[in-house]
Amino acid sequence: MDVIDIIKTRREPAKLTDPVPSDDLLSAAFTAAATAPDHKMLRPWRFMKIAGEARKDFGELMAKSLKARMPDADAGAIEREKTKALRAPLIVVATATIKPGAPEVEQLLAAGAAVQNFTLALHGSGFGSFWRTGEAAYDPIVKQGLGLAPEDHIVGFLYVGTVGAMGPEKKRQTAPEIVSTWTAAR
Ligand SMILES: Cc1cc2nc3c(=O)[nH]c(=O)nc-3n(C[C@H](O)[C@H](O)[C@H](O)COP(=O)(O)O)c2cc1C
Repeated sequence: MDVIDIIKTRREPAKLTDPVPSDDLLSAAFTAAATAPDHKMLRPWRFMKIAGEARKDFGELMAKSLKARMPDADAGAIEREKTKALRAPLIVVATATIKPGAPEVEQLLAAGAAVQNFTLALHGSGFGSFWRTGEAAYDPIVKQGLGLAPEDHIVGFLYVGTVGAMGPEKKRQTAPEIVSTWTAAR
């Protein structure tokens, strides 16, 4: 596949399974992430891997966050939150630590570009991933449990694995729908 095909064929898998990408491939994908555009080269992005049994602890942390946010959540909802952590063999928590030197929004954009590089590198190598945030990503309980500073941003919980089933194709916008040409008013 050429680069445009890799980008255009990426979509969310419906199901992720074992095996995870090899250490070499993950390392290459993280290296690809770190080539994202980055104003002032502040390198705001970081990636934290959660695999194997640690996913259960992550599920417990997500359940604790849900209970704190929704004290009335029923047992089923709490259990679903725990189970979600097991829907892929690997979770990668993508974060951004904002540094002096460039506007925060630019550093968040750089971290988002790094995530997309990572995602596309995996897809182009035959693996799948999907990107999640939700309220847990903004919850101080979750940040603390992951060993992050309160001011760190969780820009994504990336679920990674082998594509067990591909998600449905989506209608994408075409170039004419999103592109205009500016000319100075005369
Ligand atoms: C920053 C970010 C956070 C997201 N968080 C969620 C989420 O929490 N839940 C969700 O269903 N989709 C979330 N999405 C969207 C999905 O990752 C996905 O892009 C969307 O369902 C469209 O599917 P596609 O990637 O196949 O086009 C998020 C996307 C981005 C960029």
